[in-house]
Amino acid sequence: MSSPSSVLAILCLLCFLNGQGMIAKVAANSQVHIVYLGERQHDNPKLLTDTHHDLLATIVGSKELASELMVYSYRHGFSGFAAKLTESQAQKLSELPGVVRVIPNSLHKLQTTRSWDFLGLSSQSPSNILHKSSMGDGVIIGVLDTGIWPESESFNEKGLGPVPSHWKGVCESGDRFNATIHCNRKIIGARWFIDGLVAEYGKPLNWSTEFLSSRDAHGHGTHTSSTAAGSFVTNVSYKGLGHGTIKGGAPNARLAIYKVCWNVLGGQCSSADILKAFDEAIHDGVDVLSLSIGSSIPLFSEVDERDGIATGSFHAVARGITVVCAAANDGPSAETVQNTAPWIITVAASTMDRSFPTSITLGSNKTFLGLAMFTGPEIGFASLIYPESEGLDPNAAGVCQFLSLNKTMVAGKVVLCFTTVSLRTDITSASAAVKEAGGVGLIVAKNPSDALYPCNEDFPCIEVDYEIGTRILFYIRSTRSPLVKLRPPKTFIGKPLSAKVAYFSSRGPNSITPAILKPDIAAPGVNILAATSPLDALGEGGYVMHSGTSMSTPHVAGIVALLKAMHPNWSPAAIKSALVTTAWRNGPSGLPIFAEGSPQKLANPFDFGGGIMNPNGAADPGLVYDIGKAGYMQYLCARGYNNSAISRLVGQNTKCPIKKPSILDMNLPSITIPSLKNPITIKRSVTNVGAPESIYRATIEPPFGTIVSLNPNALVFNSTVRKLDFTITISAIHRMNTGYYFGSLSWADGVHVVRIPLSVRTEFLQPYDANDD
Ligand SMILES: *[C@@H]1O[C@H](CO)[C@@H](O)[C@H](O)[C@H]1NC(C)=O
Ligand SMILES: *[C@@H]1O[C@H](CO)[C@@H](O)[C@H](O)[C@H]1NC(C)=O
Ligand SMILES: *[C@@H]1O[C@H](CO)[C@@H](O)[C@H](O)[C@H]1NC(C)=O
Ligand SMILES: *[C@@H]1O[C@H](CO)[C@@H](O)[C@H](O)[C@H]1NC(C)=O
Ligand SMILES: *[C@@H]1O[C@H](CO)[C@@H](O)[C@H](O)[C@H]1NC(C)=O
Ligand SMILES: *[C@@H]1O[C@H](CO)[C@@H](O)[C@H](O)[C@H]1NC(C)=O
Ligand SMILES: *[C@@H]1O[C@H](CO)[C@@H](O)[C@H](O)[C@H]1NC(C)=O
Repeated sequence: MSSPSSVLAILCLLCFLNGQGMIAKVAANSQVHIVYLGERQHDNPKLLTDTHHDLLATIVGSKELASELMVYSYRHGFSGFAAKLTESQAQKLSELPGVVRVIPNSLHKLQTTRSWDFLGLSSQSPSNILHKSSMGDGVIIGVLDTGIWPESESFNEKGLGPVPSHWKGVCESGDRFNATIHCNRKIIGARWFIDGLVAEYGKPLNWSTEFLSSRDAHGHGTHTSSTAAGSFVTNVSYKGLGHGTIKGGAPNARLAIYKVCWNVLGGQCSSADILKAFDEAIHDGVDVLSLSIGSSIPLFSEVDERDGIATGSFHAVARGITVVCAAANDGPSAETVQNTAPWIITVAASTMDRSFPTSITLGSNKTFLGLAMFTGPEIGFASLIYPESEGLDPNAAGVCQFLSLNKTMVAGKVVLCFTTVSLRTDITSASAAVKEAGGVGLIVAKNPSDALYPCNEDFPCIEVDYEIGTRILFYIRSTRSPLVKLRPPKTFIGKPLSAKVAYFSSRGPNSITPAILKPDIAAPGVNILAATSPLDALGEGGYVMHSGTSMSTPHVAGIVALLKAMHPNWSPAAIKSALVTTAWRNGPSGLPIFAEGSPQKLANPFDFGGGIMNPNGAADPGLVYDIGKAGYMQYLCARGYNNSAISRLVGQNTKCPIKKPSILDMNLPSITIPSLKNPITIKRSVTNVGAPESIYRATIEPPFGTIVSLNPNALVFNSTVRKLDFTITISAIHRMNTGYYFGSLSWADGVHVVRIPLSVRTEFLQPYDANDD
């Protein structure tokens, strides 16, 4: 069976749609401040809100005024509020007992590299991994994508030393790509692979929008490459929003470009071409490979070349090359994660501690905050309507998806509508309908756990949750001539906004091997600003904001390059372990991480693996769960692949042991038991990569309904003992079927905490004869 060609696609959510105005507007004078009060003092949200009003009233003079100035009361995850304040009021508030801090909500600077600051990699701080690793100098990141726009300033070679000596690849000239001019000390290699696509599909390409070379006609490859390893570019201005510096994760790492995805049907890549690119990249001497590419469910098995990525990455990892792949954008449904081979680092997408609040002031002078991304002038008081008048189907009245508007009714007005399910197409079609009918703005009320999808271009469109939407609706119904004023949004950064796993990010469990936890880790993937091709219709001035696991993947690839620079001898499994065991389960700000898609659901390992990537933690993990080639072979035998299939994959004659090994014993930095019945004992081993003399003790958070024990409970390392084995025994307390419950096992030596997620489902009554495993 050898039909190594299926077609895969790039994983950027809005990449191919025109007219997505996604920008952050920075306004000159902000009055909204965030007053952060820390942990909640009690559980009654109503009481909390009352205390917020009281606190504000003591500063502004009256309860009435306090109510007017209050824009948000935060009372679920933590306590605090947002209110319109003058500087001196803010100052007075910050001096009150119990107030942790008061933060103005606008920053007058374009936060171009906000995702790196969010991850603790501000370039000003000398002690972080960025500096310890010389910003990834000497490391080569191979990017399999849509090519590159070499003229982008993000690929300048300023300050870079010679091409690393282990590089054996080439820079090929082609259509509008001259190797002499377009490769430099940043872009050290550039090749393209199209034969597989052409062989299978003939020539589906419209050559007027493609180049038969590494030149990027799409923008996606330029975006991912500059996110992973873009050089510093100062004074970047995006949509006229002030100036900032932009850079990639490893600004001194080098890029080897493998163009495998072509600008047809929004970005298609043939697995045959992907395999060939892996083959060449391994030979060329890349250290890290970044693939923002996915296939579709059902997944192919790891020994089936139709996937291309699983097979190609096996060879790369066997040679010490770390492979980082996107988890895909099919969330929030369960079992949608892709690129699930255990040797891959599979990346989910999170939001950042940033959003774009905009104020909505009603004719009653009441102000609410909504989220928006539009530029343009303030809309002064305009009429506000909710389309529910006679003649409309009452079920369709006010529903964003079904907005059919009457020009006389809407011209010059702002429309309020409610979504039933928040789909991007609903919001774009609603804003298009309002614009078409001559309306001047749209307020969309949506489920707060649904994703934020920006509206069309610069059409003023603001999203609020159902609660605020309902209050606006009551106002409309309470007055003869409802009015509203909309201000363009401000960039809003830092505490107390907590990060979330993005709505679209694909979720576990793994549909092909449920005992292998996927995704492995999450990284920022929402509204990521990076370089693009001038042919990208959404770009402006060479930059664009995109969202997708396509964008989170090169964040991890960039950090892997830094880790490689610091620890050249770490295996791909050791690097993955360092990332997973140190990831943030609570955001960098200490606030819990939620998962978009279900109301108020805390993220679990099926949403984000170990958590959100913590680069400085990963640089010094203490212990690693390492895996060598033998471990992967054991896994392939455990999967039940036959000797000939395994031999073909690993390229050498292989014989599995008679007694099938257990997948659960693979030395991964996670334990996932899809079907626990009888008590089970699982093996792991850890290698000390910290101080030679160290003693680690275990802490266990058992998943609900299980008992977890360890043997031994303490691990003593010295200069000769660097690697130690232990076993974990897990048993179910109740004889019943459950869903998955989650816990963790942590080893700590006082400096490091090495945590792995535990995910267990108990299954006593089998609905049908099921095989074990
Ligand atoms: C590539 O650029 C070099 C340097 O400008 C030039 O000498 C060469 O002719 C160019 N090659 C092609 C194929 O245009
Ligand atoms: C190719 O693309 C150009 C420019 O986008 C367009 O005008 C033309 O119709 C396309 N041709 C085909 C065959 O799709
Ligand atoms: C930054 O760019 C703006 C316009 O893009 C230009 O006017 C200004 O001089 C630049 N500043 C520096 C320091 O280069
Ligand atoms: C709203 O505020 C403005 C100025 O602050 C004031 O002139 C107006 O009367 C107020 N309207 C209401 C309904 O309170
Ligand atoms: C549009 O709305 C106006 C005012 O509400 C109404 O008089 C008119 O009949 C409507 N037209 C249609 C086509 O529904
Ligand atoms: C081994 O497995 C492959 C696919 O997994 C199958 O095509 C092949 O026939 C099997 N060979 C033997 C000898 O069973
Ligand atoms: C390390 O520990 C082992 C086992 O406890 C012991 O046998 C060995 O002598 C120790 N080595 C050193 C250098 O202390």
